[in-house]
Parts: sequence; C-alpha cells; structure tokens
Amino acid sequence: MRCLIVADLHYSLPQYDWLVAQAPNYDLLIIAGDHIDLSSAVDGRAQIVVINKYLDLIREKTRVVTCSGNHDLDGRDEEGEKTSRWITELNARGLEADDVSIEIDGTLISLCRWWDGPKAQARLAEQLARDAAKPKTQWFWVHHAPMADSPVSWSGSKFIGDTVLKGWVDQYQPDAVFSGHIHQSPFTGAGSWADRIGKTWVFNVGQHPGAPPAHMIFDTEANEILWLSMMGAQSVNLSEPLVRPIPPLRAPPDWFTSGSQARGRTLARNPGLAD
Ligand SMILES: [Fe+2]
Repeated sequence: MRCLIVADLHYSLPQYDWLVAQAPNYDLLIIAGDHIDLSSAVDGRAQIVVINKYLDLIREKTRVVTCSGNHDLDGRDEEGEKTSRWITELNARGLEADDVSIEIDGTLISLCRWWDGPKAQARLAEQLARDAAKPKTQWFWVHHAPMADSPVSWSGSKFIGDTVLKGWVDQYQPDAVFSGHIHQSPFTGAGSWADRIGKTWVFNVGQHPGAPPAHMIFDTEANEILWLSMMGAQSVNLSEPLVRPIPPLRAPPDWFTSGSQARGRTLARNPGLAD
C-alpha cells in the first residue's frame, strides 16, 4: 500500500488542487486535520462547502481518510464540548473520518477526533481501547496533535505536544502516529518530522505555504517513509533504528519510481530533492 500523508492545509486551495492531481498515484490519502483556516476572510461555512467538494473530487481518484484538527471545530455536541460536526458527517457521506477505524490488508488505521473536553477525550480513549483488542498486523493512528516531549512537537523554544497522546502511545505502542498541528516543528533546529518512541514511530508532517504542501509518502511494503518539503527530502526506514540527523534523500528509492512514471516525474521535479 502506498500512502500520501498531509496535514494543516488550512484552506490552501493550490494545495488541495495538488492533492487532486496526485491522488491517482496513491492507494490512500491521509489528511491529518486542520482543513479550515480560522483566520481566513472566507467564512468557515463556505470553506467547509469548498473542502467537501475537493474531498469528493479526491475520492473519485483514491481512498481518502481524515481526522479533525482544532481549526475544524464548527459546533458543540450534546455535552457542550466543541466538535467538528462536518468532519464527523463525512462518515455518513461514505468517507472515513473521526471515531472510525479502518482495516486495509491487516493494517488497522484509527482516525482520532480532536478532543476539546473530557467527554470527547474519553470517547477517543474508548476507540483506542477497542482497536487495541482487534487483530492486526500493524496499527497506525491519525491524530492531529503530535505527542509531547518529542522533536515532532518542538515549537522552536519548548515542547508543546499532547501529553495525553503520549500516555496512549506509551500504553498501546502503535506502529506509527501521523500528526501535524505544530506547523514549524520540522523546520526548527531542534525539531523534526520524525521520531521513534520505543517501537512507535511518530510523525509531524509540518506546514508551509504553497504547493506542493509538506508531505510524506509511505510505502508499507518497503516500510519506508519519504518526507518532502521546502526543507528538502529525507526518508526513514521503519524497520531500522532512527539516525539523527536524518540524512537527506539524494535519489528516489527504487520502490518509488518502479511501476509509476508519474510518481517518478513528480519526485524528480521536487525542488527539495537533493541532486
Ligand atoms: Fe494547523
């Protein structure tokens, strides 16, 4: 399975256009929260309409899953806690999002809601507890906030990650957690897009303006993840120990270019790829 992973698009329409164009090259697109831009002059309800159109365009080309981020909250639930109704409603529209866990070829992917209060947090805890008991060869989480006390949540001056998530990672030790939220972490000196906590790999794809967005390409057979951004290209092999500093990727791996001229051209054109 080949996955394209992004987060924090924040109503960047050129970035959504890029996703629509790239979608046919992947088996799965993961958007790890923050579709909406709360600081935009465009009304949030209008943004939701447009983004839903984009998600419909993408789903015609590949499977797309997502989770809510803090910018995606558009209402309150019956408990009075902030919630992303429009992200939850994606499930009823045949897309997969918050509170849902999907299984692909034995891999379980838990799509984790943004929790803004104890009830929603408990709901997510129940989802993870249920998923822990399910049979699976690998377990991935899509969770907007990155975990605490890791370079993936370094703000540039301090760690500002999710301490509750850290507890869940320690408890369940999933294979990988895909996040965003702290846009600058991968681009700061002490920050990173990747970290390893015991057997768990944790990621923050990062955010920068313009297309293509910062993104990760995950080939589950090769068990390798490429990270491409304005900082260049790097990769980690999930079967190997993490090496710091993560070395630059100097050429596309064989698995990437084989079988898809389109993917090869895309990576070759990426200005961040070292030559
Ligand atoms: Fe964000």
